[in-house]
Amino acid sequence: MEKVKIAGFVSGGGTNLQAILDASERGELPHGEIALVLSSKPGVYAMERAKNHGIPAVVAHRKELGDRFEAEIEGYLAAYGIEMIVLAGFMSILSKAFTDRFPQRMINIHPSLIPSFCGKGFYGIHVHEAALRYGVKVSGATVHFVNEIPDGGQIIRQKAVPVLPGDTPESLQKRVMEEAEWIILPEATEEIAARLL
Ligand code: GAR
Repeated sequence: MEKVKIAGFVSGGGTNLQAILDASERGELPHGEIALVLSSKPGVYAMERAKNHGIPAVVAHRKELGDRFEAEIEGYLAAYGIEMIVLAGFMSILSKAFTDRFPQRMINIHPSLIPSFCGKGFYGIHVHEAALRYGVKVSGATVHFVNEIPDGGQIIRQKAVPVLPGDTPESLQKRVMEEAEWIILPEATEEIAARLL
């Protein structure tokens, strides 16, 4: 069966990428294949995860490339025939010119229930610090389409997770990843790939 060629964009440890690769190996991504992993930083563990699965892994080093960052990414996407993008722990904000090229074809995982604790400056552990500071009793994760507004595109899936007494940003992050992110990101990836075919 034909599959949608997907690029996973990463910037760090890559546990969300791993969740997609594991789902794929279990046969839960029948309409898509991760054909490329692209990192905005060199030396991150997500690259090892890609290599362990025999997937080409490339770096577009944002800090070094500056204005040429997105052009470099587009070169890789063209070279590998990429049709869909999954931002799986990708810590760079992409321009409108870039996001316009992948309408309804680029999705992102965000570690909160959007519209809470999202937008510029809310990424990684900072999201959970903000949630605990505010005192919410429920948090979670959201998968959404990517447009020019950071974390502002149409919501595809959300899953709620309780905030427990004594939580630290790290314990909340772990629960949100295990009980929400690693479940809804592979599910949404398959849903959108199936829709694109
Ligand atoms: C994840 O919690 C992801 O939701 C978050 O960063 C972490 C990356 O972990 N993404 C954002 O904050 C994007 N704004 P991972 O590299 O282990 O998947």
